[in-house]
Amino acid sequence: MKRVFFITIAIFASLVATAEQRNAPKIVAGPYIQACSQSEFTVVWQTDSDALSWVEIAPDDGTHFYNCERKQFFQTIYGRRPIGKWHTVRITDLEPGTVYRYRVLHKGVVLNEGNRRVRYSEGKGSNVYKKEPYFVRTLDSDSDVTRFAVGNDYHDSPQTINALFSKEVISPATHDFVVFNGDMVSSFESEERLVTNVLAPSVANFASEVPLFFSRGNHETRGAWAINYYNYFPTTSAMPYYTFADGPAHFIVLDCGEDKPDNDIEYHDLVRYDDYRQQQAQWLKSVVESEQFKAAPVKIVIIHIPPKSNGWHGEAEVARLFAPILNSAGIDAMICAHIHKYRFTEAGDSASCCNFPVICNPNRSRMDVEVTKDKICYKIVDAEGKEIATNEIIIK
Ligand SMILES: [Fe+2]
Repeated sequence: MKRVFFITIAIFASLVATAEQRNAPKIVAGPYIQACSQSEFTVVWQTDSDALSWVEIAPDDGTHFYNCERKQFFQTIYGRRPIGKWHTVRITDLEPGTVYRYRVLHKGVVLNEGNRRVRYSEGKGSNVYKKEPYFVRTLDSDSDVTRFAVGNDYHDSPQTINALFSKEVISPATHDFVVFNGDMVSSFESEERLVTNVLAPSVANFASEVPLFFSRGNHETRGAWAINYYNYFPTTSAMPYYTFADGPAHFIVLDCGEDKPDNDIEYHDLVRYDDYRQQQAQWLKSVVESEQFKAAPVKIVIIHIPPKSNGWHGEAEVARLFAPILNSAGIDAMICAHIHKYRFTEAGDSASCCNFPVICNPNRSRMDVEVTKDKICYKIVDAEGKEIATNEIIIK
């Protein structure tokens, strides 16, 4: 009797394993493009079960994706390939301003007994048979122009992303990249909240093919899951503050931290943003001294909280720590968010402490920017398409 019982259990376990093996993991978020540069980009996606993943890259040369073996890229951590639900694969050795096709692939991990044995389910990749593969274009500093769109302060509103960043409006043909300048969630309480309210609508509209740069807002610093922010938005600097270049412009993305003093009751003894901003200021000094930055015809800073010496603590610290460094660096404009309304602050404003203009993009709007070596042109529209502001900043 006992023997029959164990045989039954073994058959049942085998059937379950077989069923699991048949079910390749499914993509539940992504893929989306992060940390794009002249020669590299990162593909991020999530599967519904643990998997081992990779990305295949093909040139945009008219051949079918299945024409030949495509170059494969793998995520590794100190040489070892991780198993998990989130996949972050860096693609390297690319040419600037060049369109590439890519495909994400993964196979489920049915059994992981370390060195003893690892068993995989059926592998699966994004469809290149009945659908086009994904396309992405690397950034290009030799281009005469860069065009990008900025959104911020949507506070858990996928509807706003769908309205302002729809496929019809945002594509590689019209925009080189998109910037989300913070407060896209009201509180980073869970992964599901970020995926549902920010990543899923972005991927549905543009983020698989148009690079997305994220600038952390003070609201992304809050919540039980906030400490995991970087996992979703990797950068070229390995920090939430970083630089990139496209067309004639060099961009510095700064991380503002929180808006109130660190010891405020709302932060529950969990933050030290004063130290963090100080550390960031040291990094910023080295950036503005770099030859690549100095050589750029146009210099733009992106940060969620605008500088204001007599404002809240976050605003005052941006003015005290970052503005003096930027004032000696020939900055042409700073793009901010946070105040939920349009504000253009002229260069030399006593409260901003900046010798360059500061533009605050309103909430629930999209700012389309075009930069040449002569000027920065921008137009801001709301979700109904109504124009809120338009302006030109002449490069001196
Ligand atoms: Fe904010």
